[in-house]
Amino acid sequence: MSYSQKVVEHYENPRNVGSFAKGDEDVGTGMVGAPACGDVMKLQIKVNPATGVIEDARFKTYGCGSAIASSSLVTEWVKGKTLDQAASIKNSQIAEELALPPVKIHCSILAEDAIKAAVEDYKKKHSN
Ligand code: FES
Ligand code: FES
Repeated sequence: MSYSQKVVEHYENPRNVGSFAKGDEDVGTGMVGAPACGDVMKLQIKVNPATGVIEDARFKTYGCGSAIASSSLVTEWVKGKTLDQAASIKNSQIAEELALPPVKIHCSILAEDAIKAAVEDYKKKHSN
């Protein structure tokens, strides 16, 4: 199986790799695993508490090229979005943008789940 050009491009030049400082109140963290293959993805968002807009994002993915490309892409997409907009990103949009083949769809689902988990984590931190 060969990777699409966009997957290779993100895989070779991943955007926003890393993590934010521990204890940052404005950060939401999502950590998800794919039962199918054991890959793990950690995705973080940094939110402007005054506006509720995501200003920055980071990821660390231990997994295949498609999972790395999916998380790299999503960290770009969430910037400038509200929490609800970010949480409504669909794995099908990621899969389409990266031209993922059917066996790699779960890699894009991992990215959708990771961003949803990061938004949930942020909301939980700021619920009171
Ligand atoms: Fe996930 Fe290959 S199965 S890295
Ligand atoms: Fe499992 Fe890509 S995340 S093969």
